Amino acid sequence: MTAQNFKGKSLLTWLDYTAEEIRYLLDLSRQVKEEAKRGELHRRFTGKTLALLFEKRSTRTRCAFETAFGEEGGHPVFLSTQDIHLGIKESLEDTARVLGRMFSAIQFRGFKQSTAETLAEYSGVPVYNGLTDSFHPTQALADIQTLEENFGNASGKRLCFVGDGRNNVARSLVVICAKLGIHFTVICPPELNPDPEILALCEPLARSSGAEIQITGDLDAVRGAHALYTDVWVSMGEEARKEERKRLLGPYQVNQALMDRTGRKDSVFMHCLPAVKGEEVTAEVLDGPQSRAWDEAENRKHTIKAIMLATLDCKAA
Ligand code: CP
Ligand code: NVA
Repeated sequence: MTAQNFKGKSLLTWLDYTAEEIRYLLDLSRQVKEEAKRGELHRRFTGKTLALLFEKRSTRTRCAFETAFGEEGGHPVFLSTQDIHLGIKESLEDTARVLGRMFSAIQFRGFKQSTAETLAEYSGVPVYNGLTDSFHPTQALADIQTLEENFGNASGKRLCFVGDGRNNVARSLVVICAKLGIHFTVICPPELNPDPEILALCEPLARSSGAEIQITGDLDAVRGAHALYTDVWVSMGEEARKEERKRLLGPYQVNQALMDRTGRKDSVFMHCLPAVKGEEVTAEVLDGPQSRAWDEAENRKHTIKAIMLATLDCKAA
């Protein structure tokens, strides 16, 4: 596997990447993080431009893309839907064509996965999915980097997602775990089970990687987990479902008692953030010694830099 395999490739979902390609990106992410810790300065994005399109809010994703790209000489341009005609006045296809003439790559955060797909099809430059209703792939790469920092190679480790199993974060985790041979359990009420379509796509992947994928409502399934992961009960765009989610997910809060039920002294807590303390996780766990949420947030930047280095035609140093 060499960086050459990636040139010009978009990242819309991990379904489009092989296990070997994901492994390459994880190794590159570790290298990029080590460079940062040594204080090395590189200029690998000199002369490159990145459009950052946002239909939804963001702290980590925007800052990770903008700083990772800018600090190496690239020119990121933040464009919210207040700023550009994204599907308004001109067609999305036309906006994509124009952006492709001016930018080396495009990051899209928004509602529909099909918007990211259309941008990739018509722009002719790599498009990075910075979160849609369907997937959050750059998050999942940072999550696996964090898991590996604690337990070594993630293959064969047990990751347990407790919460809204239908959401973009859970869906990206099931795909990356199925590809990499990570045992992945979703614990949620049946109303919030992951969509059967994504599970069907992951089944053959899991069979070939050796990953065990389990969906259950039983909290006892946390036993033996290396990491418990949760996310907000109400994702962006679903605000009208707040009361229903509180009712369904109340029993699934990650608290110290649930952390202890893993039966592993070295188990860690993970969260993509932002977190609503007192809902999906207690402050005691999020701010406690088992929490790796802040490492995950930092790793967003290293993994996003690695994805851009691999997919853009960058200078060597
Ligand atoms: N985890 C994550 O994507 O955070 P932001 O919404 O702040 O970008
Ligand atoms: N599931 C959450 C993730 C935020 C990073 C959302 O879509 O709002």
